[in-house]
Amino acid sequence: MDIRSRGKLATYLKLLSRHRGEAAGAYDEVAAVYDDFARVWDQQIAAPTLRHVNHLIEERVKPGALVLDAGAGTGERTLALLEHSQPGKVIALDASAAMLDVARSKIHDPRVSFIQGDVRHLPIADNTFDVVVCTWVIEIMEDPRAVVQEFIQVIKPAGVVIYAFCSLPERPPGTLLKYVMAKVSSKEGQLTHLLPEEEQPFHRCEYSSLTRFVGGLTTVATVGKCCTVTDAFVACRVREPEVVVK
Ligand SMILES: C[S@@+](CC[C@H](N)C(=O)[O-])C[C@H]1O[C@@H](n2cnc3c(N)ncnc32)[C@H](O)[C@@H]1O
Repeated sequence: MDIRSRGKLATYLKLLSRHRGEAAGAYDEVAAVYDDFARVWDQQIAAPTLRHVNHLIEERVKPGALVLDAGAGTGERTLALLEHSQPGKVIALDASAAMLDVARSKIHDPRVSFIQGDVRHLPIADNTFDVVVCTWVIEIMEDPRAVVQEFIQVIKPAGVVIYAFCSLPERPPGTLLKYVMAKVSSKEGQLTHLLPEEEQPFHRCEYSSLTRFVGGLTTVATVGKCCTVTDAFVACRVREPEVVVK
């Protein structure tokens, strides 16, 4: 990582640290510089991860689909959805008004609506969405499993949840990031809940897949309505999921 990139990362982490453990406030504070940081993360560290997310979007988001971008932030994944699929409607939901303001300033597409809301208690009826997409959000939740469960509630019976998260493995670069995140985390650990392998929400079915990148630092998972987030790696017929360790 070059010096400029490290500087952007440092600025982002410094801003987050002012609101330890309080996600919406933290992201209200970082909204203006978030895209600068996200560019470093998305292009230098998570590029293969996000290529895979885009591939899943192409595969799973059918024309006309109703999609939720959960924890949409500044709208980067909503933009990817519009680029890689033809959804009928996208709801970009986030807790931070300032992050959503940035998203609104970038996205002028009548198919997209912006909602301020909490991914832990979605203000949405069960069985509503064809697809839920969520990137870099569940790992900052106190209870990531409950959040994935909430996503499963709001997908239709044949719907799918596509999500990417950072799980900070116990070796570089995870150890380095873990150290940095620990420096800015709350005592409650709300901004840094780490997901050890046995806690990663996953089970085998036609909707489920689990793909790891960057030596296990990032993971892209898909789950369907039939999945529970506690029965990791329990087979449930149909085809084997692709588990690729890169
Ligand atoms: C690291 S950003 C990821 C944004 C976007 N998904 C992306 O890939 O660029 C995390 C986002 O989660 C949002 N967030 C945090 N807690 C939330 C909650 N409880 N409900 C909804 N959004 C939340 C933050 O406001 C922030 O926009």
